[in-house]
Amino acid sequence: MWQPEGHPTTPNQVFSRINFTHCSNNQKLTMDFKPQREPEIKYTKLFINNEFVNSVSGKTFPTINPATGEKICDVQEADKADVDKAVAAAKKAFELGSPYRTMNASQRGRLLAKVADLLERDINYIASLETIDNGKAFALSGSLGDTFFCAGVFRYYAGWADKIQGKTIPVDGSYFAFTRHEPVGVCGQIIPWNYPLLMATWKIAPAIAAGNVVVMKTAEQTPLTALYLAALTKEAGFPPGVVNILSGFGSTAGAALSNHPDVNKVAFTGSTEIGKIIMAAASNDIKRVTLELGGKSPVVVFDDVDVDSVVEQAQEGCMTNMGQCCAAGTRTYVHENIYDEFVAKSRERAAKRIVGDPFESTTINGPQIDEGQMNKILDLIESGKKEGAKCEAGGERHGEKGYFIKPTVFSDVQDNMRIAKEEIFGPVQQIFKFKTMEEVLERANDSNYGLAAAVFTKDIDRALMFSQGINAGTCWVNCYLGITAQGPFGGFKMSGLGRELGEYGLQNYIEVKNVVVKIPQKNS
Ligand code: NAI
Ligand code: MG
Repeated sequence: MWQPEGHPTTPNQVFSRINFTHCSNNQKLTMDFKPQREPEIKYTKLFINNEFVNSVSGKTFPTINPATGEKICDVQEADKADVDKAVAAAKKAFELGSPYRTMNASQRGRLLAKVADLLERDINYIASLETIDNGKAFALSGSLGDTFFCAGVFRYYAGWADKIQGKTIPVDGSYFAFTRHEPVGVCGQIIPWNYPLLMATWKIAPAIAAGNVVVMKTAEQTPLTALYLAALTKEAGFPPGVVNILSGFGSTAGAALSNHPDVNKVAFTGSTEIGKIIMAAASNDIKRVTLELGGKSPVVVFDDVDVDSVVEQAQEGCMTNMGQCCAAGTRTYVHENIYDEFVAKSRERAAKRIVGDPFESTTINGPQIDEGQMNKILDLIESGKKEGAKCEAGGERHGEKGYFIKPTVFSDVQDNMRIAKEEIFGPVQQIFKFKTMEEVLERANDSNYGLAAAVFTKDIDRALMFSQGINAGTCWVNCYLGITAQGPFGGFKMSGLGRELGEYGLQNYIEVKNVVVKIPQKNS
C-alpha cells in the first residue's frame, strides 16, 4: 500500500505534488496534481443493480457549477418509483444464499480495499469533478482531508470486514450462548452537498464492511462524484444491488427512501430540521436511525498560547470549505488578556484568505454551494451588524458572478445574538471575550448543538477540565478538525444520534443476535 508522506497541517494545505512511500518495500512514488478544468462527465444516470439507468419518469434536473452559476449537465431525477426499484435490487442482493451473502468476509474487505486503490488511481479526475460540482478549491478536494481521506476510510473499513465478531457468554443455566453480529440489511443513506464524496464514503464503507446493502440518495446540488464512486464499486467487483446511488430531491426521493418499509436503517447527514423529519419517519416501523446534524462548535483560546498559530488554526477551523462544515468552529472564545491582539490578527488573516477561481492553486475559498445558501449567510451577516457586533473583515458578497462571500470576522459578539446561536454554514467567524474556565464552559455549553469543540492551552489541567466539562462529541486539544478514519465522529444533543467512523461507526450497521443452545446434562 502507498502511504502519503507527511500529513496536512491544515485541511487546506496545497499540494502540487505528493510523495508516497510503499509500506512494504519503502519504494518511492511521486504524484503530480493536475486539476482538470473541464473533466469529462461520464455518469449522469441513476445507478441501480450495477447499471446506469434512466429514471422511470424520464425527468432530469441540472447540476450547477457554483463558481459560475452555469449548468454543468443534466442528471436523471429519482422519484418514489426509482427508490422502489433500487430498494428491491438491494433487498435481492441481501437474500440469504445470494452471491453477496455467501461471499467470504475477507473478500468483501478485499473489494473495499480495491475501491480505495481506484479512488487513488483517479484522484485528479475525481477531485476536479468535485471542484466543478461543489465549488471547493481543488487544493482541498484533492487533499489528504478530502478525496485521499475517502481512500483512507475505504481502506480502514476494508480491514474490519473479517473482524466483526460476536462473543461466547458464560450464561446462567445449562446453555451455550453466543452472539452473532449480523448486518442490519437494506440501509437508506441520505447525504448533503458540503463533502459529497466524503459523506458517501463515510456511509458506504462501514455499511459494506458489516455486510449490509446500500441505497444512497445524494444531495441535489452535488450528484456527480458519488455516481463516479458507484462505477468504481462495480469495477472493484461488488455484485449487483449491493450499492445503489440515486440523484434526486429531498422531499421526493429522500422522503420515499426514509419511509420505505423495506429499508431497515436510515443514515442521514444534513440539517437538524430535516433530521427531525427523518427520525419521525423512522418511528413508523422502528427503523434504525443515525443522524449527523448541525453544529455551532466553540473554540476556546486561553492566554498561554502562541497567538499567531492559534489565530491561524481557529480561522481555518471555521472557514475551511467556505465554512460549509458541520464541525466548523464558529464560536471563538478568546481570553481577555490576548483578546485585542487575537482580533487584530484574525482580521489581517481573513483579509489575506484568497477567494476566487477554485482551480487556481492559490485559492483557499471558492463559492458557497448555491444562491440560497449565499443569501442565508448574507442575511445572518446583516443581523450581526444590526445587533451590534463589530464587522472586522469581509461582511459582504465577493464579485457578482457565482456565489462567493468574503471571509468575515465579527468581534464584540454577545451570546444572545443570532450569529452567536444559529448555524451560519459560511465563512463567518464570531469572536467572544472571556475571563474564567467556569464562565467559558457554561457559555460554550449553552447551545442546542454539541458536535465538536476545541481548547487551546499549554496547561494540561485546563485542557483536561475543559474536555471533561464540554458537551460535545469531539473535543480537540491544541488542534482543530483532526478527524480520522479510526476515531468516532458525531454529536451530543441536537447535533445528532450515533457515531460515524472508527469501530464505533460499525455499531450502527450491526444487529446483535443472541443464540442460546441447550446443553444436555449427563443423566438427562
Ligand atoms: P438539508 O438537510 O435539506 O439537505 C440534506 C439532505 O437531505 C439532502 O440530500 C436533501 O435532499 C435531503 N432532504 C431534504 N429534505 C428531505 C426530506 N424531507 N426527506 C428526506 N431527505 C430530505 O440541508 P440544506 O437545505 O441543503 O441546507 C440547509 C442547512 O442545513 C445549511 O444551511 C446548514 O446549516 C445545514 N446543513 C448541515 C450539514 C451537515 O453536514 N451537518 C450539511 C448540509 C446542510
Ligand atoms: Mg452542483
